[in-house]
Amino acid sequence: MKFPSRLEHFRAVDSTQRVVRQWLDEGTDEVAVAVADYQTAGRGRQGKEWTSRPGGGLLLSVGFKPDDFLAPTHGWRLAAIVALAMRDAAEEQAGLKDGTLWLKWPNDIVADAADGGLRKVAGVLGESETSGRRVKSAVIGIGINSDWKTADFPWALSPTMTSLRELAGRRPIDNAALLDAFLARLEPRYDALKAGTFDAGGWSVAQRTTGRRVVVELGSETLAGVATGVDPETGALILDSEDGAEVRVDSGEVIRCRVR
Ligand code: BTN
Repeated sequence: MKFPSRLEHFRAVDSTQRVVRQWLDEGTDEVAVAVADYQTAGRGRQGKEWTSRPGGGLLLSVGFKPDDFLAPTHGWRLAAIVALAMRDAAEEQAGLKDGTLWLKWPNDIVADAADGGLRKVAGVLGESETSGRRVKSAVIGIGINSDWKTADFPWALSPTMTSLRELAGRRPIDNAALLDAFLARLEPRYDALKAGTFDAGGWSVAQRTTGRRVVVELGSETLAGVATGVDPETGALILDSEDGAEVRVDSGEVIRCRVR
């Protein structure tokens, strides 16, 4: 089957998440991809907005209809394969050394910062519809700061974000080539998922949090501890909390993680 089944590029759109959800609901087959240079209402996780500059980021949503092979408990793996495919494509296209880009649980793409913290390069948003024992459809969006110059970052984002361009020593990044490289890596990862295989090892070793002290935001509460790994069955972050108990976090946001 053709991969992707549908690929459309928008100069500007409200949100590629909205576009792909509409396509899937109207009967478009998987795997459908909408790409935008700019979004007027880009959505992030936890109801936050996702800001971008025209051309500064690669903004896209991927629509899947896994139907019968993916249990809702494994639905998170779609976001994981999107993040891993983009991590690999981004390292190649930016000419970065392997291991420059990591995941921050669950699926942010990050790089180490000189101050010992992490800087976000990309964020992933998964929105799915399940019915009984199956994931009917899922729209996985990713926004990667590809060609942004640090000077152009909104001041509120600059302490926590960086871009491929900055990591590549200010070398411009070609979004079209990055998209092609991403799709070329996503297809085999999705084929593997359809065949019942998930790259659990690759997802686990990519996690920058493992072995580090972290603070996780869980709704209005926070939890501190040492991240000991991730669970490739449930997608949970595994933490040794400060009172010595092992805690498995199914959903939340790592808001602090020091690598040095
Ligand atoms: C996050 O909060 O880190 C997730 C950000 C996801 C942003 C991408 S950009 C393309 C797609 N369209 C959206 O409206 N959001 C996602």
